[in-house]
Amino acid sequence: MQQAEIGLIGLGVMGSNLALNIAEKGNTIAVFNRTTARTAEFVGEAGDLAGNVIGCNTIEEFVAAIRPPRPIIIMIKAGEAVDQQMDALMPFLSGGDIMIDAGNANFRDTMARFERLKDTGLTFIGMGVSGGEEGARHGPSIMVGGTEESYRRVEKVLTSIAATYEGDPCCAWLGTDGAGHFVKTIHNGIEYADMQMIAEIYGILRDGLGKSAPEIGHMFGAWNKGRLNSYLIEITEKVLAATDPVGGKAMVDIILDRAGQKGTGKWSVIESQQMGIPATAIEAAVAARSLSSMKTEREAAQKIFGLEAAKFALPAGAKLEDDLELALFAAKIAAYAQGFAVMAAASREFGWKLPMPRIAQIWRAGCIIRSQFLDEIARAVTATPDAANLIVTPAFADMVKLSLPALRRVVAAAVTAGLPVPALSSALSYFDAYRQARGTANLIQAQRDFFGAHGFERIDGVDRPHGPWGSGAL
Ligand code: 6PG
Repeated sequence: MQQAEIGLIGLGVMGSNLALNIAEKGNTIAVFNRTTARTAEFVGEAGDLAGNVIGCNTIEEFVAAIRPPRPIIIMIKAGEAVDQQMDALMPFLSGGDIMIDAGNANFRDTMARFERLKDTGLTFIGMGVSGGEEGARHGPSIMVGGTEESYRRVEKVLTSIAATYEGDPCCAWLGTDGAGHFVKTIHNGIEYADMQMIAEIYGILRDGLGKSAPEIGHMFGAWNKGRLNSYLIEITEKVLAATDPVGGKAMVDIILDRAGQKGTGKWSVIESQQMGIPATAIEAAVAARSLSSMKTEREAAQKIFGLEAAKFALPAGAKLEDDLELALFAAKIAAYAQGFAVMAAASREFGWKLPMPRIAQIWRAGCIIRSQFLDEIARAVTATPDAANLIVTPAFADMVKLSLPALRRVVAAAVTAGLPVPALSSALSYFDAYRQARGTANLIQAQRDFFGAHGFERIDGVDRPHGPWGSGAL
């Protein structure tokens, strides 16, 4: 058999699917798994594709099966296991070989690994892969960080397996070292916000208006045909329509309201705070997941405080459905604007030169946040690359003007009814604060100066940076 074009270590669900996708696109792939029985099982499962798969039982055999310089995808649990795998591989590799971490790694770990390999002749790629199990099997969105040269070695294979949007592969080299994993992290941060905002609209419909899961699902189905058209809205419709095979109730109604999280949302928030870029909708979404996990505390608190008796103030009907759709749309704009602002700041901070239009383009298909909306973002950031924020680009400014009143009505009604809408209300406050030429930080500055003599700038240009807070002046 000819040498493999690429290798893959880790035949879990994501690794297996990625390997099958690679083989299906006509590439020969060598595979290795720590538990070797899994390798044999995988080759068996590959069926017709087995001809393109070289199953290997030892690292030596695996490395020898790949054409140098060898690209090796490591698809295992993020964290220390990746370093251990790298250590195990290193003695067998030679100059130019490329280790590719395709898990959801923290980009700071990726940068450290990239640095660690710098003087070894080996190179490291941090590769964000989005699209879940299905995406890995049939076409993910792929975000690559590493040297451009190493990307060129794998470009053909990666573009062959990526999802396509109108023929354009959703795969790109985004910059050096941690660029790919950083962009994937922000993708996930936006994913958190998107999901939380959808859940809040669901909460309004369920708890404020007494709608059943199938009724709500039906609404999401209708919205999926319009401006909200996206994978997450599509699966929300499907989820809400599903019936539990065990008890026959709506599936969603018997799922415990405690959300998991593996870290990417939290990292998005930490990094945005580090750089001083507000990502309030993402922050609210991450915090909402944390609060969701405090089930026992919430149960105890409900016993003490009860729930608000106020009804959701907006009457059910077509007008409300339009408002909810537009509210979700407005909030979505804020979340994406924040995510793109964080990436722009990181690009400057880490010297990546992140290609914003390309990022939006490779998110149009394959990934979890895929949508038509991303094509509009791609067009806006291409037309006005120097805009300070997505919401001030002409196309998005018009969308915000159209949808903001609905977001305001929905948030106001939800807040009055005691329905939690942390992400929707954060998005609204972000707009309100961002467009306020004169805010209230003058008072913060005065307070800081009062208790700590931190000084302030005056609006009249007079050079007197402290207030008259001393005993004589007060
Ligand atoms: C994707 C997903 C994927 C995964 C995350 C979810 O882009 O394909 O984001 O990476 O579903 O691990 O993360 P949480 O478990 O934190 O929700």
